[in-house]
Amino acid sequence: MAEEAILGFLNHNTQISDSGQFAAQLGFDHNEVVNVIKSLHGFRYVDVQDIKKETWVLTDEGKTYAATASPEMLLFLAIPPQGITKDELQKKLDPAVYKIGCSQAAKNKWVELGKLVTRKVQQVEDKVKNLLLQIQDGKVVGQDDIKALKARKLIAQQIWKGYSVSKGPNYAPERKKVATDLTRENLQRGDWKELEFKEYNFTAKGLPIDGGHLHPLLKARIKVRQQLKDIFRQMGFEEMPTNNFVESSFWNFDALFQPQQHPARDSHDTFFLQAPSTTNELPEDYVERVKCVHESGGYGSRGYGYDWKRAEADKNLLRTHTTAVSSRMLYALAQKPFVPKKYFSIDRVFRNEAVDRTHLAEFHQIEGLVCDRGLTLGDLLGVLHDFFSRLGMSKLKFKPAYNPYTEPSMEIFSYHEGFKKWVEVGNSGMFRPEMLLPMGLPEDVRVIAWGLSLERPTMILYGIDNIRDLFGSKIDLGLIKKNPLCRLGI
Ligand code: PHE
Repeated sequence: MAEEAILGFLNHNTQISDSGQFAAQLGFDHNEVVNVIKSLHGFRYVDVQDIKKETWVLTDEGKTYAATASPEMLLFLAIPPQGITKDELQKKLDPAVYKIGCSQAAKNKWVELGKLVTRKVQQVEDKVKNLLLQIQDGKVVGQDDIKALKARKLIAQQIWKGYSVSKGPNYAPERKKVATDLTRENLQRGDWKELEFKEYNFTAKGLPIDGGHLHPLLKARIKVRQQLKDIFRQMGFEEMPTNNFVESSFWNFDALFQPQQHPARDSHDTFFLQAPSTTNELPEDYVERVKCVHESGGYGSRGYGYDWKRAEADKNLLRTHTTAVSSRMLYALAQKPFVPKKYFSIDRVFRNEAVDRTHLAEFHQIEGLVCDRGLTLGDLLGVLHDFFSRLGMSKLKFKPAYNPYTEPSMEIFSYHEGFKKWVEVGNSGMFRPEMLLPMGLPEDVRVIAWGLSLERPTMILYGIDNIRDLFGSKIDLGLIKKNPLCRLGI
């Protein structure tokens, strides 16, 4: 072992004058010897002095020449005694070898570069290759040669670091074992009194913790969700009860003035329940008003003019949006003397969709709504700016959109500094009178609302542009281990 060799050598000699030579003589790897010296120095077994030497090493190009031949040599060898045309010669050689070879061989006066390329001398010596081999073997070569090889970028300077080593204040021919831990046995035997303990290294990095790792989506669901709840609460919003994944079509669609032929109500888009397939608890008088507004309107609306079917409204489904919860809450609110409300929810929704780069069949929706007399689109814009700025998204743009239950409706886009583009972050609008008035809310009450997926800000926060990198079988385990807990931009 290198440690025994070093301590043993110093027992009989005053110093190791050069760790490099020492390692070479004893057949040790110099790096290993250096590490041992550093450790012995740390415990003051040895004193050290730095040695720095400038050495030359071959570059990749230099190594190739040393292993084969220099380009000038290859070029020379490719010229037959009767000479060869430039074109023919070029065909025989690698373009770089041809180019460098021509200029070097001409410089050495080995060849004549006329119409025909011919040899000027019969024999040549590959001086460049020989010099490179010498340098590779650690031999000293003349300054002029070094300069020339350096100019051709065949060698590069390297600083070699080593040590000269002598006995230190704690020198001993053998290193005493230091204890790293105080054990029960040490206490029982009483040998702790004699033990020498290793000093604490407070700067040691420690072992990486390799236990379980939270999935980014889970982190998001815990962390980002908690932050969102805080944001909503700071803005004065109350949480809605979302503990029913199963909902009736009535609350999910009909109450929201979504016509029964709407494509979203198709089983291609929505998961319907087989058992129990229908609900039997709907408020009958309200159902009647909803039927009327769909069929023939009222409250200043013409309705959709179709035959509304109760059976369609009774069908149970996995809620496709948390707006179903909002409709229940607004209906409940309308049953009592009116008080303004600000509500939010963050929970799971389900859509019968093929999973692609931006869609999951199951995701979390964040929903906020404000219900008060005389609210305007300006109030919606204001509250959206406030909400999204708190998420670190203050550059917003809005695009007119369509939802059966809102008018006007706006898609929300936020400028992503990292992706350098506008990304869609949510959907919003003012609930229609056809939805609010049958519930029994006073005529001047307006509801502004918006919704977004929890996964969306998560993807943006973690810089992920394909949701399948976050969910499913293609997920990168390294990402799960390494990604930090991202916080929203606050
Ligand atoms: N329910 C809408 C969606 O699923 C979001 C939304 C909520 C839109 C409230 C307007 C008002 O995308």
